[in-house]
Amino acid sequence: MYEVRIIGTGSFLPQQIIKNDSLSDLVDTNDEWISTRTGIKERRISSGENTSDLAIEAAKEAIKDAGINAEEIDLIVLATSTPDFIMPSTACLVQKGIKAYNATCFDITAACTGFIYALNIGYQFIRTGQSKTALIIGADTNSKIIDWSDRNTCVLFGDGAGAAILQRTDKEGIILVDTGSDGRGDELLFCPGVHLKNPFMEEQEEKKQVMHMNGKEVFRFSTTVVPQTIEKLLQYSSYHIEDIKYFLLHQANARIMEAVAKKMNIDPEKFYKNIHKYGNTSAATIPIALNEMDKAGLLEKDDLLVLVGFGGGLTWGSALVKWNK
Ligand code: COA
Repeated sequence: MYEVRIIGTGSFLPQQIIKNDSLSDLVDTNDEWISTRTGIKERRISSGENTSDLAIEAAKEAIKDAGINAEEIDLIVLATSTPDFIMPSTACLVQKGIKAYNATCFDITAACTGFIYALNIGYQFIRTGQSKTALIIGADTNSKIIDWSDRNTCVLFGDGAGAAILQRTDKEGIILVDTGSDGRGDELLFCPGVHLKNPFMEEQEEKKQVMHMNGKEVFRFSTTVVPQTIEKLLQYSSYHIEDIKYFLLHQANARIMEAVAKKMNIDPEKFYKNIHKYGNTSAATIPIALNEMDKAGLLEKDDLLVLVGFGGGLTWGSALVKWNK
């Protein structure tokens, strides 16, 4: 088995900033409610960019950061719940956009856990020798599936993309990944697909193709599953909670991060937060934050990080990473 490390990161966000106050023009809400319940102050919303546009820019930055040529990439895995098309995959659009013609490309859907699942796929492809250099992307244009008349959801989400380049190495990088799913929670967070209809069946009621969420249950699920996956991850490694420099959780709600820190008795300062600027960008939150942390000089060689995703499916996953860029 080969070792796998992250050699570059990138991110891209739409220019358009929508502050909390602007949402009170659409629904009965206010900055005070949104800030105190979620930690969100503003989010970036597409003014025409689709998921592939955001992903291509994030990928270009990651490639530059890694110091590689796009032709070296032999695998592109893109996690999204908001693809440009049902087919072709958004990963294929990225391949064309960055001219990575030697790559095998596909999308995966694991909602807000998507980046961790994609990272795991890249990790396994490289570990087993099938791939040498993988581009992993989390990208979502949530604004196109948000019900802008539903105050329970429209205040929470934003658009964005983040990317990482993984490469075969002889040094320790990605140490362990834990993932899980529970399809019994499918109705807690979902967005219907293309309506089922054909000339040989009876007409069915058409569900609005927007995001539906049971916020309270998703909150409960998140604060339960995140400590469990972190504990499981560390249990199978030779490291302890105290060895971890940063916990990079999916940015869904600042209160989820605070609850996890309290439950696990971890210094809340170890939880990186940028949710105030971008809201929940689904599969993109973790790679956007990772890129930001690296650019801000927060990550030093051999630092240990725990990345954690959770979301619709239900799905969850975590990765223990030694920073070895
Ligand atoms: N502005 C103002 N009031 C709002 C509101 C908004 N945007 N959204 C909901 N409210 C109201 C509710 O209608 C309710 O009013 P009522 O008491 O008159 O019925 C009240 O605020 C409390 O709602 P509640 O749902 O109990 O709030 P909460 O403290 O549970 O916070 C969430 C709601 C959505 C912020 C919280 O449940 C959450 O973050 N859940 C997880 C969601 C998530 O992270 N999803 C993505 C996971 S990947």
